[in-house]
Amino acid sequence: ATVFILNGPNLNLLGQREPHLYGHETLDDIEAMCRDHAVDLDLEIDLRQSNHEGVLIDWVHEARRLADGLICNFGAYSHTSIALHDALKACDLPVIEVHLSNIHARETFRHASYTAQAAQGMIAGLGPTGYRLALTALADLIDA
Ligand code: DQA
Repeated sequence: ATVFILNGPNLNLLGQREPHLYGHETLDDIEAMCRDHAVDLDLEIDLRQSNHEGVLIDWVHEARRLADGLICNFGAYSHTSIALHDALKACDLPVIEVHLSNIHARETFRHASYTAQAAQGMIAGLGPTGYRLALTALADLIDA
């Protein structure tokens, strides 16, 4: 089974960007951790990052055709994008949203996520471990 792991704006700067909030690990480090874990779970992963909302929407459409599950961290678009919410709604796939930081413990404009409202579940505040946990959960959901 194949899992797409889609990452949104500014996540290319992980490791350099506000490390007190997002840590020192880069997106490449997270990808390496996910690759190791995917082997154990017998999953294929395709991890991508874009700063562009339309590109992320196109990738969700691609996931509809090609993936068995989806992990998404759409960054700030989580709080703003009804278009990404609708794209996820059009998917007949298990979707898990991940946030590195605990969005509920931060500014109020981060408390609501449009995209999480279209997901099966959300993991927030556990840093890169959240991606690993999301993969474990998806392996179960895909098998079920
Ligand atoms: C984030 C949380 C968002 O509020 C923020 O805009 C990000 C990162 C996270 O992973 O904690 O870019 O999605």
